[in-house]
Amino acid sequence: MTDNPATTTDSGAPVESDEHSLTVGADGPLLLQDAYLIEQMAQFNRERIPERQPHAKGSGAFGRFEVTGDVTAHTKAAVFQPGTRTEVLARFSTVAGERGSPDTWRDPRGFALKFYTEQGNYDMVGNDTPVFFVKDPMKFQHFIRSQKRRADNNLRDHDMQWDFWTLSPETAHQVTWLMGDRGIPRTWRHMNGYSSHTYMWVNEQDRRCWVKYHFKTDQGIECFTQDEADQMAAVDTDYHTRDLFEHIRDGEHPSWTMYVQVMPDEDAAGYRFNPFDLTKVWPHSDYPLIEVGRLTLDRNPTDHHAEIEQAAFQPNNLVPGIGPSPDRMLLARLFAYADSHRHRIGANYQQLPVNAPVVPVHSYSKDGAMAYRKSTDPVYAPNSKGGPAADTARYGAPPSWEAAGSITRTAYADHAQDDDWGQAGTLVREVMDDDARTRLVDNVVGHLLNGVSEPVLQRAFAYWTHIDPDIGRRVTEGVRAKAGEKDPKAEQQANPARTSMQHKA
Ligand code: NDP
Ligand code: HEM
Repeated sequence: MTDNPATTTDSGAPVESDEHSLTVGADGPLLLQDAYLIEQMAQFNRERIPERQPHAKGSGAFGRFEVTGDVTAHTKAAVFQPGTRTEVLARFSTVAGERGSPDTWRDPRGFALKFYTEQGNYDMVGNDTPVFFVKDPMKFQHFIRSQKRRADNNLRDHDMQWDFWTLSPETAHQVTWLMGDRGIPRTWRHMNGYSSHTYMWVNEQDRRCWVKYHFKTDQGIECFTQDEADQMAAVDTDYHTRDLFEHIRDGEHPSWTMYVQVMPDEDAAGYRFNPFDLTKVWPHSDYPLIEVGRLTLDRNPTDHHAEIEQAAFQPNNLVPGIGPSPDRMLLARLFAYADSHRHRIGANYQQLPVNAPVVPVHSYSKDGAMAYRKSTDPVYAPNSKGGPAADTARYGAPPSWEAAGSITRTAYADHAQDDDWGQAGTLVREVMDDDARTRLVDNVVGHLLNGVSEPVLQRAFAYWTHIDPDIGRRVTEGVRAKAGEKDPKAEQQANPARTSMQHKA
């Protein structure tokens, strides 16, 4: 007899033993009638769900968002009204690595938030960078594949990463960011979060404006150098996961102050570059940061699978007062995530406690595998039987903008300064100091020497020269000097697999 509860089967009946299966005599065969053993084996075989395609490795925590500013002039969203406090789930992640990959690989970090608002769930699924690699969703899948694994040897491959990047000049800004100090945050607590995308905000008068979100860490920015990150990857693959969990457990609750940049609607068409282009930031001098509130994480998950692995963030979870913008990437994401969740978790993933809103759901969705929420009659609309009816008087106008033209496949319409290199150059010349530039060059040279072959290498030199002539020269000279020392091209030609084996992410 112990004080522990008695083990039961999944149907709640007491089991006879945690240790011994049912056999015919001590040395005899197992019996099919050992339903408990079979339940243990069968359930075990089904413990894993597919990992997220990108952003597979990550963890998160719960907390709260408290509004400290006043942005009522810009949005009617209840979650951002003065004094409002909303429960939040946050998940941080790397992009390219698999579920067991090291937290400290050089990669952007996901910064996904689910606000459980009184108007339903609002998900802000951002990154720790204010820009992204590509601006058309047609290229997203190809981009992610180029960062993951080759078909033949199942290895990650810097040659294919740089092949994609150098053939896609719009990647320059994000690649510069990635190769700089902020490409490896010291912990998730020490990085910022950004919506990256431009969103629409709509106020009580149904007047729209365009916004970008910035969550600035209150812990201060801290980064790992490449060497520190490599050492940490060897010692503790889960360093960021552990850091967040232990700090919250010990009562050191990380927080971020949320700001928005607000662009009046009338500025957008004539702005000097496309304000919906995901590869660009809006300079602070044009659109300064306006404080909105504070995000604090104060509660760890108690079951990682139920609360983090099965968490389903989706940029289409928008609430009245917040809408999408003409950013093509964002518009594609409005489809992609819910589709992934239906595959990864199942059709009724929104009924799981971590994904369910705190407000009652009155949708007409019904049935399907593992349906938990009960359907009620009437099961159709319109009806005269007292079923839910859309409040079109209150919510009838969708967030919108004007669009016209023939159906086409083209780049965005031109603005005066849409070039791909300018803001990357600004980051190098005006934001980084001499030491940061030297670390940038070292990181790029190290990355290129790790298996990048001709003609990709020449294109990489040209790519950096476009970003900044001096950095281009230093990268070219750095690679040539070090390649001269160990002649990586000759080594790779002799045994490409062996060179690839040495790749770091
Ligand atoms: P500002 O001087 O007003 O802003 C510079 C920004 O750069 C600050 O937000 C700072 O963040 C951030 N920063 C500092 N060091 C690094 C680094 N090593 N890597 C990446 N970001 C860093 O200039 P602008 O608004 O005119 O922007 C200039 C350039 O700064 C842009 O081209 C862009 O690359 C970068 N940037 C701009 C942001 C924006 O939204 N405007 C946001 C982040 C970067 P912090 O204050 O936290 O130190
Ligand atoms: C995860 C698609 C661009 C941030 C995912 C997932 C998919 C996806 C399918 C896995 C979802 C899941 O199974 O849970 C896309 C597509 C994009 C795109 C199609 C562009 C067309 C972006 C951008 C950002 C971003 C621009 C950041 C600004 C994230 C984050 C996650 C994620 C943070 C992990 C969310 C979590 O923690 O569960 N993406 N993505 N993605 N994506 Fe994207």
